[in-house]
Amino acid sequence: MSNKNKTGRIAEVNRFSNVIQYVAFEDEHELKGKWSSGEFGNSNPLTLELACGKGEYTVGLAKRYPERNFVGIDIKGPRIWVGAKEALDKSIQNVRFLRAFIDHLENYFSKDEVEEIWIPFSDPYLKRPKKRLTSPKFLNIYRNVLKPGGIIHLKTDSKVLYDYTLDVIMREDLNVITRIDDVYRDAPEHELLTSIQTYYEKMHLKEGKTIHYVAFQLTPEMV
Ligand SMILES: C[S@@+](CC[C@H](N)C(=O)[O-])C[C@H]1O[C@@H](n2cnc3c(N)ncnc32)[C@H](O)[C@@H]1O
Repeated sequence: MSNKNKTGRIAEVNRFSNVIQYVAFEDEHELKGKWSSGEFGNSNPLTLELACGKGEYTVGLAKRYPERNFVGIDIKGPRIWVGAKEALDKSIQNVRFLRAFIDHLENYFSKDEVEEIWIPFSDPYLKRPKKRLTSPKFLNIYRNVLKPGGIIHLKTDSKVLYDYTLDVIMREDLNVITRIDDVYRDAPEHELLTSIQTYYEKMHLKEGKTIHYVAFQLTPEMV
């Protein structure tokens, strides 16, 4: 994308009614704890897509589950622009995008406010494991916003990130719900995993890469 297009998209995304902009890192956003009443106007369960890029999972899931709410989060405005524009053009009511650092998630969501988290094709940070979105540091952040029994879905082309996540899950004694080592070979019937494809996923598939998936819980469901 040219710099001119990027600048245009940044200006436009700032004005989109379904895009919420970050606050200073030491501040709490006014929507924290109020996404239901203050933004969506209903108390439907909330799903986040982290490192959402163009937001294919946010929009794809929102179309399939109109009785749930979805927020795609990424720091890059020109990427968020794509999903936000589609949601506006198609009048998809249960979608918002948040332009913010995932590191500051607790400034935007309160305890138990989130029911599910999707992490599709986040950077594997080969040399900086602590920056991976499934590192213990990030899992502790998710613990502070996820409901008991909340589910985290990781979809990745990176064997390093996949193995690392499985290792963290084992070390922290977390509950694996589903593990699929090769999505297109082992679970071609899994509609959510095979028919929603992100921008990065399409590139990885063209290169013949294997796609891995694991869904897990940080805490068992409370009765
Ligand atoms: C490899 S891209 C994947 C994008 C998208 N999920 C896809 O599959 O096409 C990773 C994305 O994560 C975002 N990102 C990385 N670290 C982030 C952070 N700490 N906070 C917010 N966004 C982040 C980047 O801006 C980028 O859009």
